[in-house]
Amino acid sequence: MDVVSAGNRVVLTALDPRDLETLARWDEDADVTRFAGRRFAGLATALQWWRQVRSDARHVVLAIRTRDGRVIGDVELVHIDWLRGEAELRIRIGEPRFRSRGYGREAVEAAAAYAARRGLRRLYLRVDVRNEPAIRCYLRAGFRKSGRLKAGHRPAAGVADLYLMERILAMATASGEGVSVKFR
Ligand SMILES: CC(C)(COP(=O)(O)OP(=O)(O)OC[C@H]1O[C@@H](n2cnc3c(N)ncnc32)[C@H](O)[C@@H]1OP(=O)(O)O)[C@@H](O)C(=O)NCCC(=O)NCCS
Repeated sequence: MDVVSAGNRVVLTALDPRDLETLARWDEDADVTRFAGRRFAGLATALQWWRQVRSDARHVVLAIRTRDGRVIGDVELVHIDWLRGEAELRIRIGEPRFRSRGYGREAVEAAAAYAARRGLRRLYLRVDVRNEPAIRCYLRAGFRKSGRLKAGHRPAAGVADLYLMERILAMATASGEGVSVKFR
């Protein structure tokens, strides 16, 4: 697996089709889907989703792995506008025992470094105002609140406002590029 960005304990790689079964499992975890939603509509559609993302220049999905190659989450850049240099970030730490231990912050930092190297200048995200661990993670990773959005009803989360948060990206920073991890 080629590493596209790295933190101390996490590396980001392309998502491999062999990861899809794990992602489908996270889609069944209410603690994940309440605020992050589902990636795809069941394992049967996963490969189709993966192929479609790969052919979409405005969408990047990366696996978040421990340094021994285990996939523990995923991070997406969506609605990428290469001309304006901005994209929306979405993240999940799918494996419960890896949450609230700083892996999310590291993965957001690594994704921001990757985005900067790809030429993006600004990342933004939307987060439910009740999702305190996520908000804290994003603040620690250099995002700032820049607005409050009125949300419509979302199936798993109900009705609640969203914070719009953003991070202006510095010039490209140190990368984990060129490193390789063994897939397992
Ligand atoms: C949101 C998410 C990506 C954050 O990743 P993470 O690895 O759990 O986050 P981190 O450990 O880097 O940071 C979490 C912070 O919240 C704090 N925290 C944890 N539970 C908390 C709570 N109930 N209330 C307030 N803060 C809390 C942690 O102490 C930590 O802060 P610290 O670094 O100052 O100690 C991850 O929890 C996740 O995937 N959750 C489920 C899906 C989701 O909500 N995705 C985001 C949708 S916008």
